[in-house]
Amino acid sequence: MCGIVGYVGHAGAGQTGPDSKAHTALDVILEGLRRLEYRGYDSAGIAVLADGRIDSRKKAGKLTNLEQELAADPLPSSQTGIGHTRWATHGGPTDRNAHPHVVDGGNLALIHNGIIENFAEHKAALVADGVEFLSETDTEVAAALLAKVYNDEAEGDLTRAMQLTSQRLEGAFTLLAIHKDHPDVVVASRRNSPLVVGLGDGENFLGSDVSGFIDFTRRAVELAQDQVVTITPDSFAITDFFGNPAEGKEFTVDWDAAAAEKDGYPSFMQKEIHDQPEAVLQTLLGRSDIDGRLTLDEMRIDPEELKKVDKIIVLACGTSAYAGHVAKYAIETWCRIPTEVELAHEFRYREPIITPTTLVVSLSQSGETMDTLMAVRYAKEQGARTMAICNTNGSTIPRESDAVLYTHAGPEIAVASTKAFLAQIVAAYLLGLYLAQLRGNKFQGEIKDILADLGKIPAKIQTVLDNAEQIQALAREMKDTQSVLFLGRHVGFPVALEGALKLKEIAYIHAEGFAAGELKHGPIALIEEGQVVFIVVPSPRGRDSLHSKVVSNIQEVRARGARTFVIAEEGDEAVKAYAEQVFYIPETQPLLAPLLTTVPLQLFAAELAAAKGYDVDQPRNLAKSVTVE
Ligand code: F6R
Repeated sequence: MCGIVGYVGHAGAGQTGPDSKAHTALDVILEGLRRLEYRGYDSAGIAVLADGRIDSRKKAGKLTNLEQELAADPLPSSQTGIGHTRWATHGGPTDRNAHPHVVDGGNLALIHNGIIENFAEHKAALVADGVEFLSETDTEVAAALLAKVYNDEAEGDLTRAMQLTSQRLEGAFTLLAIHKDHPDVVVASRRNSPLVVGLGDGENFLGSDVSGFIDFTRRAVELAQDQVVTITPDSFAITDFFGNPAEGKEFTVDWDAAAAEKDGYPSFMQKEIHDQPEAVLQTLLGRSDIDGRLTLDEMRIDPEELKKVDKIIVLACGTSAYAGHVAKYAIETWCRIPTEVELAHEFRYREPIITPTTLVVSLSQSGETMDTLMAVRYAKEQGARTMAICNTNGSTIPRESDAVLYTHAGPEIAVASTKAFLAQIVAAYLLGLYLAQLRGNKFQGEIKDILADLGKIPAKIQTVLDNAEQIQALAREMKDTQSVLFLGRHVGFPVALEGALKLKEIAYIHAEGFAAGELKHGPIALIEEGQVVFIVVPSPRGRDSLHSKVVSNIQEVRARGARTFVIAEEGDEAVKAYAEQVFYIPETQPLLAPLLTTVPLQLFAAELAAAKGYDVDQPRNLAKSVTVE
């Protein structure tokens, strides 16, 4: 949550860079904030340092409000600055609560992502010292504390002041500060909250993630937990909170700015839905040899240890947790290892049973979800081996896990997750097949066949996308619908949950997903004349197909007046009699079907939200990356 950008550069820096244009702090920061706005969009602000003075503008609402303010009241040209786009925690989304907070008579400006848990005690001490606060935020307290430490203890050393201040703060924070006496310095600190450094030529950058500077450089440096970094135009220096020097891990971002553009789609979500064939393809690429043997290079856990795993716990939140639910069916089928899926925020507040032979697999698009991170740390403390399935290189969860399997879905900008969901399922399937291969649960030929079928999925998703108009037309027709139910069984059940979540998130429609078998145990009471129900129907092929049972469920709701819309496999004629419309998906193995059946539901939600005139990419109250508990 909250997007953070910092910039410092020599005058003229950028002229030899990718955009060959001299950079100013304002241009760089605004561009970074545009890219990071998905992280929070309640308010935005920028502070720059020019001619020994700090000047700032901040505005409630989306970034465009700040841009209008800047047009009416421009900031001076500068080569040093910080910028913020906010997702409110302490204090409502007002101009006053927006960041940066400029304190100490204009000497120091600070921005923050996270929650400072002991802000009240610091605030009381600062108030007793005569400090006046203008906002309701914990951030202003951190700013005032930093200023006090700078003035009283750090002898004019801004880095030292940040180290001392960070030692005294509890909770989660990324802090960036500039001071009027340090014209070409930005100092930052991080604990439990994301921050990466971008390296340029005669200029350096800071961002909540690499999209904060991807227009200017693809060279980046990861920071570890509890570190302070000081950037100048020609250097960056990392220490811990006690001033001990530390090394950062440099990496090159493997996507460019164009990958984060809309490509002519009306929204990032639409684009990302259409990116899915590529996201699945990229996630599969390079993970097996010609004989179908899986070679997971990033798997840093000893195969002997993996052979001994007797329980898997999947930890995730929201859509990622639904990907985990889908994966559970496959992992248990292929590897015969009991697999639990647990919402990360519930996990560590009970007494989960973890042993050294438990493998904890976290699923996170951002790699920064605080609930998931805390659950992973807890699992590690309890002795589990941890593995991250993640879409964001350099993020905290993979860095703190024993092993990582990156999904290569590319940047996901829309708040509602789509392509990351499919890529997570694919990566979890690769893990399942890898374990089956290691442990001999499946013959190599069987694994090869499943991989071959996975390899056909991108083209099949494309077929679903080529038929998008049918479900999009339905979405437009249904724009005034008040409630939609989704039913599914087996792997179709988490797909139903995901279909409902998408609709809630972006179209603000009451929507629920149910296991179709559960209908008669309660939810069927919701069915009345005209109730819209989507049913994800399993393939009729195969001995153990649940097809006929789900068809009975369709009949049950239809008999009570429901309007039934069915997602079914090509050639399934039987469902036609019970459906107002059928949306066909290509044939595939039952366990791979979620990679196809989810797509029409994503298209439905995106189109319906757009038809209602809502902002599909930035739904109300949400943020892309939930970095607070
Ligand atoms: C829903 C959505 C969220 C995320 C959840 C976890 O569309 O995007 O439910 O899936 O907040 O986020 P990550 O995967 O970044 O840990």
